[in-house]
Amino acid sequence: MPRQIDLASGQFTAGVLHEHTTTVGMLTGLFADQAAWQALPAGTPLYTVAILPAPQQEGELLSGVTHLYPGRVGREFYMTRGHFHQRREQAEYYFGLRGRGLLLLQQAGQCVLEPLFPGSVHYIPPFTAHRLINPGSGTLSALAVWPATAGHDYQALQAQGFGVRIMADGDGWQAEVQHA
Ligand code: 6PG
Ligand code: NI
Repeated sequence: MPRQIDLASGQFTAGVLHEHTTTVGMLTGLFADQAAWQALPAGTPLYTVAILPAPQQEGELLSGVTHLYPGRVGREFYMTRGHFHQRREQAEYYFGLRGRGLLLLQQAGQCVLEPLFPGSVHYIPPFTAHRLINPGSGTLSALAVWPATAGHDYQALQAQGFGVRIMADGDGWQAEVQHA
């Protein structure tokens, strides 16, 4: 039997090995407005990742759906922590399933924002940091497929972070360039 995703909810219908929710309290120093971050209950869920099982070995692929909830920390919209792959040369694909949002890509300090929507297809090249952002009013769900050996490097982004932040602007959003 093939795997299945319910397109209305973005959920795998069965077979999930592992589900992990990242909460506000886990993302120290990530959001620009520290006071607004501290004012939110630490247990507030930001995003949940549901991953299908695959052997952790060369040549294997992992797949997972990220559900990024709507909300803001101060003026800044909810986003994933963002990472490079530990194996920098390993690429990834994202597919938009539900909601509307943004995929932020950063390579050699250059940022690109791709709109993510149901049916959108995104190639994340090697050596490219990536983050999802949800400036919408509903949950943003995206399927990701990446090499099982890629790993995550969160450390590399801790000092400088990404070059842009997505902030509320009236009813919409704007990308604010960060100056080092
Ligand atoms: C990966 C994918 C994806 C990502 C989640 C959560 O390489 O595993 O890019 O599953 O991990 O969207 O984002 P963070 O790992 O940045 O918290
Ligand atoms: Ni990744």
